[in-house]
Amino acid sequence: LGSIRVDISPIAVGQEITVMFRGGPVFIRRRTETEIAEAREGDTARLIDDLARNENLPEDASAADANRVLNPEYLIVKGNCTHLGCVPLGNGAGDYDGWFCPCHGSHYDSSARIRRGPAPENLPVPAYAFENDGAVVKLG
Ligand code: FES
Repeated sequence: LGSIRVDISPIAVGQEITVMFRGGPVFIRRRTETEIAEAREGDTARLIDDLARNENLPEDASAADANRVLNPEYLIVKGNCTHLGCVPLGNGAGDYDGWFCPCHGSHYDSSARIRRGPAPENLPVPAYAFENDGAVVKLG
């Protein structure tokens, strides 16, 4: 399975793109200061899934927002709902300003952590690295 490189330099603050990788969508969101602050506030909430689900970190890393990102400005997650695999709506959708899955009503926050609804886990963070001074993301 190969890697892909994505030029993230055109993504404005508050925008996100979806790329296909290994047969599924990956969301790359450039978060606003408000979204980052909300995500950090969410660290103290009672989370449904308290694991980071971040392939770049040990399996037991906590779901703190700092463990969900390599750079707080960019949140990069796999884009299939952890309930039954629908693709959630993004751009601040849902009650937690993140993503909303319309299939059965799962709300994810601005760290893509599940906050309400039937989905059991946070949207997982794929293995990735920044290249070219942060202008490019290498997935895989
Ligand atoms: Fe997303 Fe069921 S597939 S809530």
